[in-house]
Parts: sequence; C-alpha cells; structure tokens
Amino acid sequence: MSRRKLVVGNWKMNGMRAHLDEVEAIGRVAAAHPAVEVGLCLPATLIMAGSERRGAAFIGAQNCHMDISGAYTGSLSAEMLLEAGASWVITGHSERREARGETNADIAAKSAAAHRVGMKVILCVGETLEVRDAGQAEEVVAAQLLASLPEGASADWLAIAYEPIWAIGTGRIPTMEAVAEMHAALRAALASRIGAAEADAMRILYGGSMNGDNATDLLAIADVDGGLIGGASLSATKFAPIIEAADQRMAAAA
Ligand code: PGA
Repeated sequence: MSRRKLVVGNWKMNGMRAHLDEVEAIGRVAAAHPAVEVGLCLPATLIMAGSERRGAAFIGAQNCHMDISGAYTGSLSAEMLLEAGASWVITGHSERREARGETNADIAAKSAAAHRVGMKVILCVGETLEVRDAGQAEEVVAAQLLASLPEGASADWLAIAYEPIWAIGTGRIPTMEAVAEMHAALRAALASRIGAAEADAMRILYGGSMNGDNATDLLAIADVDGGLIGGASLSATKFAPIIEAADQRMAAAA
C-alpha cells in the first residue's frame, strides 16, 4: 500500500496576522511538491485569513468541541471551524490531554464530531518518559489509541500522530528503531479494530522535534507516513526541508 505522505504544521499558540506571509510561503512550497499533502493547523484567530492565503496547503484547527453548539463559553464547534476554513482538526494533542484533562472518550467524541461535519482528523497519541523507561511504551500507546479511536474510523478521514510527550519541543527524539517498532505496533492495533486493509491505508505520522535534519531518516521508516511538526513549521525556511524530504521519499517509493 502506498500512502501519500502527510506533513502538517501545528502552530500551537503562535502566530499573528504578520505571520500570514509565512502561511503563503508554505502554501507555495506545498504547490511545488504536489506528491505530498501539506497542511497548517493554525490558531483559530488565523484560520479565516490563513485560508485565503493557503496556496496548496490545507488549513486545520488544533481542537474542536464535541457538540454542535450550545452554552460552552470559549469553545468552537467543528462546524464553526469548517466554515472558517479549516478542513482538518487535531484531536488528542498531549498538551490538551495533560493540561486540559481531555480523556480518551472526549477525544473519540471530538473526532467523531469533526467527521460528522466533513472534517478530517489527526488523532494524537504518545507516552511519557516514565512509560518509555519502564519498557511499556508500545503497550500503553496502543491501548490509548484504541480507547480514543472514534466509531467508523477510516483512512479517508482519519490519520494518527504518534508523538512521544518527552520528544515534543525538547530536541530529543526516540531512536529510529523505537519509532519503527511503535508505528508497526500502532498499525497492528488498528488492524485488530478496523481490519488489515483499512489499517494499511491509514496514515500514521510521527511528531516530536521533527526538523529538517532528522526528517529524511524518520520518513524513510516504512510505517512513518508523514509528520506533525511544531517549532519547525513556524517558518517556510524551516518547514520546507521537511516537505522536500517527504517528497523525496514519495519519489523513491514510486
Ligand atoms: P515540536 O511539536 O515539533 O515543536 O516538537 C510537535 C507537536 O507538538 O505536534
């Protein structure tokens, strides 16, 4: 199964109108590499303006509410984000699981809500350093994935991002062997729930300190189908080498 590489920037709580030039520049890099699917998950305040300057990149959101509308001060529904211009949304990022107490059930519900309105979803999972050091990473992350997987999960609208919590924003990454083992374990877990063919089609991204220096090696791993990138997605200069690395892998696999 050849899966199209998916390279997505997560701007987190970064970005003002002045940074829309970077969105535009990244959209141009995406246009120059059509074999790769490129996106930017912007802060909600930039989704509308960003979607006007996105070029060939898609615009995504970083979170959504699980309900359509209602008395939820400060929250945004998937439908609102879609209307603003976000065609994808991240769910289950560890910064929300940890700081906002989001549970696996919440994440499954948010993912299903996004799918109901026609959005695509990147569902994040990942282990703490304690779990990794205890040798339980694959077992724990596979269980987390199955517990947060929405009903009707399918490769047409869902991608998974494996993001070891201790690798996010730290400059540290697991060994290539550990990434390969984790991605294979996650694909096997998916196969047990949604069947081998669907699991084989579903993209599993790596996230956590991915950058222009390590992207080529990470993207060469058989089960690594792209990246979810924080810090290195904030400028076109830093993001472009990752998109180029993904393009080269697509060409090598063709
Ligand atoms: P990072 O963040 O690339 O800055 O480590 C990745 C993420 O949190 O999605």
